[in-house]
Amino acid sequence: MTQSLTIARPDDWHLHLRDGAMLQAVLPETARHFGRAIIMPNLVPPVISGAQAVAYKDRIMAALPEGMSFEPLMTLYLTEESDPEDIAAAHATGLIKAVKLYPAGATTNSASGVANFKNVRAALEKMAEIGLPLCVHGEVTDHDVDIFDREAVFIDRVLDPIRKSTPGLRVIMEHITTQDGVAYVQDNADGLGATITTHHLIINRNHILVGGIKPHYYCLPVAKREEHRLALRAAATSGDARFFLGTDSAPHLDGDKESACGCAGCFTATNTMPLLAHVFEEEGALDHLESFASRNGPGFYGLPVNQDTLTLVKNQQATAFPDKIESPQGPVTVFSPGYDVFWTVAE
Ligand code: NCD
Ligand code: ZN
Repeated sequence: MTQSLTIARPDDWHLHLRDGAMLQAVLPETARHFGRAIIMPNLVPPVISGAQAVAYKDRIMAALPEGMSFEPLMTLYLTEESDPEDIAAAHATGLIKAVKLYPAGATTNSASGVANFKNVRAALEKMAEIGLPLCVHGEVTDHDVDIFDREAVFIDRVLDPIRKSTPGLRVIMEHITTQDGVAYVQDNADGLGATITTHHLIINRNHILVGGIKPHYYCLPVAKREEHRLALRAAATSGDARFFLGTDSAPHLDGDKESACGCAGCFTATNTMPLLAHVFEEEGALDHLESFASRNGPGFYGLPVNQDTLTLVKNQQATAFPDKIESPQGPVTVFSPGYDVFWTVAE
């Protein structure tokens, strides 16, 4: 029997589109299914000023194929030199929807991120004043902190102090990977949300390391123990309005991933919605997929839910997702869950 599910068109609240030829290759993969996405600013050089965000948005719109509609929701990359007035001006025109905090050195292209949090106080206070949310890559970078503990330590050492000293600042904990992240959101009142990726609902750290190293499962924050994956699944499928989809789809050329020093990032734009349908069905929560992918994000950002819809269909035969998409510089591997998925998006 064919099963089908129609939901309001989803949005992606954390997406890497890159630039140039890669942008052109990956943008249709997102625009095919998603109405809007929060666009990460970690280009080289990063998108720091309002003027840079205008130019990047123009390049994204120029790369959108004819006949596709998609709205990029722009962000600015927070540095210790960021100008609070420039941030406020970019917000006032409606151009930017959030500011992104990368601890310096935490992940891909984060060298210009924040090392001394005292130096971003004025920017954070301005954001609290004007109601502009902060998207946080929540990992400490201290060499003495184990990579699997970096999210939990960040909550205690950095995030909680920032929130206590900046009342009213709205914060999105991005791509949470731990039970600690889930609990921190659940234990706190208004103004705190979290995105969860598709891949962190599917893989734990064994998937990366057991039976040979799997570079296409390596991303940051790195997948944790199974108990954490289960906590993420419970949160994502609960319907709780504070948890929403941010795929963190992060394309890297295969050559850069399958390397002695492989880049972090999973490319999930192509098959995220069918994979989520599979996960939500496994959890007996298909009725909460629309909340997670289409309603809770706009709710947090104060934006309308998309008017149009997306229909997912479950077939008798496993869906054949592409293994890779092509870019002029080479292929990019599409995330594979490692098992058959029977859901597909109806065209
Ligand atoms: C992202 C990237 O490649 O830009 N990589 C990743 O593993 N998620 C950066 C990030 O969001 O951490
Ligand atoms: Zn990311």
